[in-house]
Amino acid sequence: MTDTSILHQEFLNRFGVDGMAYAAPGRINLIGEHTDYNGGFVFPGAVDKGITAVIKPNGTTVVNLYAIDLRQGCTFDISDPAGPSTTHFRYVYGVVRELMAAGLDVMGFNAVYGGDVPLGAGMSSSAALECCFAFALNDIFNGQIDKMSLARIGQATEHKYVGVKCGIMDQFASMHGREGALMRLDCRSGEYQYFPWHPKGYRLVLVNSCVKHELVGSPYNDRRASCEHVAQLAGVETLRDCTWEKLEALKAHINDEDYRRARYVLGEVDRVLAVSAALERDDYDTVGQQMYLTHDGLSRDYEVSCPEIDFLVDEARRMGVTGARIMGGGFGGCTINLVKDSLYDRFLDEVQHSYRSRFGIDCQPIPVIIGDGARKI
Ligand code: GLA
Repeated sequence: MTDTSILHQEFLNRFGVDGMAYAAPGRINLIGEHTDYNGGFVFPGAVDKGITAVIKPNGTTVVNLYAIDLRQGCTFDISDPAGPSTTHFRYVYGVVRELMAAGLDVMGFNAVYGGDVPLGAGMSSSAALECCFAFALNDIFNGQIDKMSLARIGQATEHKYVGVKCGIMDQFASMHGREGALMRLDCRSGEYQYFPWHPKGYRLVLVNSCVKHELVGSPYNDRRASCEHVAQLAGVETLRDCTWEKLEALKAHINDEDYRRARYVLGEVDRVLAVSAALERDDYDTVGQQMYLTHDGLSRDYEVSCPEIDFLVDEARRMGVTGARIMGGGFGGCTINLVKDSLYDRFLDEVQHSYRSRFGIDCQPIPVIIGDGARKI
């Protein structure tokens, strides 16, 4: 997390007083990709990286933001119906507007913030930003909004102010994260459970392909539209409620692309349950196998991978890594790898070397440390 003393100092320099510090993390996801908006299960955990903000109300209706990493500021009035045009600042503007719509008495404030989630890595830097401000403003302006509703405010911000029709996983994880635990969320019912994550003899590591993943304006929304189309034809609310039999019966009436999208989703719902059961018996081989199956589905059926990421997963497979797959929305970003301790250093050395030889760019290993969710510091 960004050093809060730097943020406090910058805040003091700009506004002449000090403010309160809040943080919210990015996330990883063990398994359950593109299942959230299909009413299925996800298995995320918060990470030790995120957004940290120093904030203080200023007694006006004006919001003054300063993003320390971008060295860029933005000012808007909370009553402005349009808001800033820069996507980055629209996340904060959207959160403010959605909190107001939820009945919170938001007033103007000053904020300085920064983050250490690599951008475009599929680790949900945008959810971290939304959740940091949603959590902080609810606290500062004496709101009683619960964490799940705050997560939904972050999600609504993506939908209405940025144009990404995302599911709830990222904001859920950023709000509810707990150090040392993954969470299984049933996105249909909203029920969730914590799973302590201390896999003996294994480690999780991300490999950032450094191919920028960007969901704004991406085919992410097309994937969702395909799923909704098939669900509608199947007469169910979401694909979570579509059986394999129903899907096969529909096969002749839908195009091949929609069929493959739905086939991936049905398989992924099953795989999260298989992983949950495997974790109960510390069966990491099964966890890993399911991760590879997820990757195959995301690459071939859901078509959200890219050559660089496929290469990273193939390399993991070739070296005997227990499990590997693309993580997050797709179209670049990171792979998540479940690696035996004994293979860990060799895997990272070799994969970095072979990636550089193949693509002429460096990939970036990011060890996974499961941290806490949104909080006051
Ligand atoms: C992005 C979205 C999430 C989820 C993942 C894919 O991270 O924000 O809601 O759909 O992609 O699992």
